Amino acid sequence: MFAVISDIHSNLEALTAVLADIENRGIKTIYCLGDCLGYGPNPKECLDLVIEKTKWCVMGNHDYATLYEPTNFNYGAEQASFWTREVLEIEQQKLSRDKWWRFLGELPMRRTLKTKLGTNTAIIDLLHASPRRPINEYIFPDDVYTNPVKVRVLFEHVKHICFIGHTHLPGVFLDEPDFYLPDELNDVYPIVDNEKAIINIGSVGQPRDKDNRASYVYVDGNEVHFVRIQYDFETTAKKIIAVEQLDNFQAERLKEGR
Ligand SMILES: [Fe+2]
Repeated sequence: MFAVISDIHSNLEALTAVLADIENRGIKTIYCLGDCLGYGPNPKECLDLVIEKTKWCVMGNHDYATLYEPTNFNYGAEQASFWTREVLEIEQQKLSRDKWWRFLGELPMRRTLKTKLGTNTAIIDLLHASPRRPINEYIFPDDVYTNPVKVRVLFEHVKHICFIGHTHLPGVFLDEPDFYLPDELNDVYPIVDNEKAIINIGSVGQPRDKDNRASYVYVDGNEVHFVRIQYDFETTAKKIIAVEQLDNFQAERLKEGR
């Protein structure tokens, strides 16, 4: 069994709630699809936990923004990334500072996992955004209707299974193309040999599907299980409001999951 988390966005309350749930299930291996940082008030604490608890992590666009520069960010997101960088830079503890910047600097764009499912082996790509442009490209559920050619082209970059985050909207894309919400799958997608899937695991720290609970998945045998976890978003929202450089909208959206 392993768990996959993504888009933590410096939300410590959501991350600790999700990590507790993963531990309660007895799952020891956790992978992270990036965007540890951005929007939220606890970048240092979230980085420490990701470094400690996950086996590895890939680069998200907000991690990239903190390390290099924000590209195509709106004003609020850009301000948050500059504030995040400053928080990491002014840390007095050199050991912590070095650990965070080394971790960010070494994040790969994608990782591939080979895992036994029954008698067969599944090839699972893990990356932040899209199999074509792993850091920045959005794949929205509507794309299957409004831009089916794009989705088919994206599937040309998928060998079998690809886990993504980035839009903060959980669900499963198939190559017809088609999209299924976790609800429509009773929260379980069975990986099978002859079916390609791009699986969005949703966001731990900033869900945007009108459900304010943290989202992640775990894989047990050939089954991908979508999980939602309640957490204390009021505390996170208060912390965001207390930081002048963080837009209050980032607090409001946590309550509504948007
Ligand atoms: Fe994100």
